[in-house]
Amino acid sequence: MPEPRARVRVAVLISGSGSNMAALIDAADRPGAPFEVVLVLSNKAEAGGLAVAGARGIATAVVAHKAFGGDRAAHEQAVQTVLDAHAVQVVALAGYMRLLTPFLVRRWAGRMLNIHPSLLPKYPGLDTHARALAAGDAEAGCSVHLVAEGIDDGPLLGQSAVPIMADDTPASLAQRVLAAEHRLYPAVLADFCRDRLAGSQAR
Ligand code: GAR
Repeated sequence: MPEPRARVRVAVLISGSGSNMAALIDAADRPGAPFEVVLVLSNKAEAGGLAVAGARGIATAVVAHKAFGGDRAAHEQAVQTVLDAHAVQVVALAGYMRLLTPFLVRRWAGRMLNIHPSLLPKYPGLDTHARALAAGDAEAGCSVHLVAEGIDDGPLLGQSAVPIMADDTPASLAQRVLAAEHRLYPAVLADFCRDRLAGSQAR
C-alpha cells in the first residue's frame, strides 16, 4: 500500500464570520491539497466561523482574550498550548483581529500567514476600503504575507488587485475585495505548503 500523502497541519485563527476560513477549508477538501485544516481557533466565543468549522467536522477552540484581562502574553501562551495540542505546523490568520506580541510572532516565524484587505504596504490596520476611496485610488485589493512584528507587516507572499468603481462605497468595495481574498488565500497557502513539503522531502 502506498503511504498516504503527507499534508501540512494548518490552524486557522479567526475573530469573526470566517469567510476566508471557509475558503481555506474548501481548498483543503480538494483532491491533492497540500494542507489540512486541523483546528479553527477564535479569541471570541461568538465568532460565526466556529459553527461553520464545527459543521465541517473540524476541531474548534475558543481562547477568549477577555478572560486574560490585559495580559496579552498569558493569552498567547494559552493559544500556543492549544496549537501544540493539535500538532499544528502552520498558522493562517484569517480575520484574527488581535495584535500579536513578539512571543507568538517569533514562535511562528516563517510559519504564520495573514491576509489583509489592502495592497500592502498601503493601508495596514483598519478601514482599508474607506482609506483607498478617500485617497482616490484606481484599484484596491488584498495581500497575503508572512507575519512579522509590525501591524500587517512582513514579507509578501501574494497580492490580488481589483478595480475601484466610480460609485463604490466602502461596503461595495469590501465585497469585491473579499471575493478576491477567497481566491488568493487558498492559492497562496497551497503554494506555501507545497514548498514546505518539498523542502522537508529534500532534507
Ligand atoms: C477579511 O477581509 C480580512 O482580510 C480582514 O478581516 C476580514 C475577515 O473576514 N483582516 C484584516 O483586516 C487583518 N488586518 P472573514 O472573517 O469573513 O474572513
